[in-house]
Amino acid sequence: MKRELHAAKTIGGEISVPGDKSIAQRVALLSILADDDLIVKNYPSGLDPKTALSVAQRFGVQTAGQASRIVLGPPDSINLPPETIIDCGNSGTTARLLSGIVAGRELDVIIAGDESLSRRPMKRIVAPLTAMGADVLDTDGHLPMTVRGRTLLPFEYTLPVPSAQVKSAVLLAGVSSGCSVVVREKQLSRDHTELLLQHLGVDLKVTDIKPVLQDDPNDPRKRVRVMPEEYKREFSLPPDARIVGGEVDIPGDFSTAAYFFTLAAISGHTITVSGVGLNPSRTAFLDHLKAIGCKVVVSDKEVVSGEARGTVSVTGGSLKARRVAGETIVGLIDEIPLVALLGAVSEGTTIIRDAAELRVKECDRLQAMADNLSKMGVSCGLLDDGLAIEGRPELGGSDFVTYDDHRIAMTCAIAAQIAVGPSTIDDDTCAAVSCPEFFDLLAKVTA
Ligand code: S3P
Repeated sequence: MKRELHAAKTIGGEISVPGDKSIAQRVALLSILADDDLIVKNYPSGLDPKTALSVAQRFGVQTAGQASRIVLGPPDSINLPPETIIDCGNSGTTARLLSGIVAGRELDVIIAGDESLSRRPMKRIVAPLTAMGADVLDTDGHLPMTVRGRTLLPFEYTLPVPSAQVKSAVLLAGVSSGCSVVVREKQLSRDHTELLLQHLGVDLKVTDIKPVLQDDPNDPRKRVRVMPEEYKREFSLPPDARIVGGEVDIPGDFSTAAYFFTLAAISGHTITVSGVGLNPSRTAFLDHLKAIGCKVVVSDKEVVSGEARGTVSVTGGSLKARRVAGETIVGLIDEIPLVALLGAVSEGTTIIRDAAELRVKECDRLQAMADNLSKMGVSCGLLDDGLAIEGRPELGGSDFVTYDDHRIAMTCAIAAQIAVGPSTIDDDTCAAVSCPEFFDLLAKVTA
């Protein structure tokens, strides 16, 4: 539905945001493999988490209770006739993680998705699962994808792309089949699967590779730090890993909170989000906010169900452009549209590089942000793997196009709050993929 938006007269306040989408989908899918009940608190109502839950139910998971406390009972058995089609909707996480689960069982399933998910790359999943011994047939590198599982072989894999979804698919294939798996990461992606597996009783070993001091080949008087391996972290899953039951209390979704932190940043006001996930693999955006001139205060930090959470207050200031590239990208992969918006009101030129992954998300997010910021009067260059954005003192209201992408819709809705003149977004319903409550939360911190 088209929605009209006007600049807010006042901005500020304290909110909490719905449970983390990445963690929720993982818990739902892990319940297919669990030995006993998983008791889940704060399960979010977004469409992607709902998809993961209904997929788990198709695999025989029994659900009782509601969002504040759902009990996920393990399947007695998985009864799916050959070539059953499982629709993963818009959810890349569900499609890719489920592929791993199916690969390790005597199942024959066709994994499908909506139009947007069917454009997203699947070869990155096909390659490792095939190497483990599963029979995986994609459609020109995309969904629909037939996965025929079986007992898999012990597997060692260094991820060619920094993707938490690929890493998780391989680990879950190992758990599903009972084979040992060693996965290595050159860049550290979000580690919710690893933390959940450990929290639910799996003896997953995580080894961080530390730099070592060596003689400098160019200057014998000096010593230099070098990485002894080409990777930074190694995960080792033992054979016959079992997921025992347990309780998982899901923290607020950092990526949803990031829209409100951005609103504070671009308006110069303060917004506080309590109970938000603070897993370090997700919070590079807070470092970015600090680096461009915002005040960020973190309090009430604690660890619940293996995941850090706390209260974060962000206050905007006079913002300065910054280059975002290299290994930083993976830690704020879902916040790049917001980095672009911040660039539009920062002094100087914001450069985003090494972010080609953004082109294969729910839409081409680089193109979408270049188009939408240009419409606001921002000079924005589209690069192969990023954006170059000239900051300006004022943004003009605009008719935004969301490309059916929740993150683009929410980013544009935040931009409209400080724009001069009215704005519209062509479709506000897509925000529901991650946060159906988004516009209600926005109303709480604006007037
Ligand atoms: C996700 C991982 C990221 C992220 C996506 C959710 C996850 O994707 O962009 O929104 O839940 O594992 P990649 O693993 O493909 O980078």
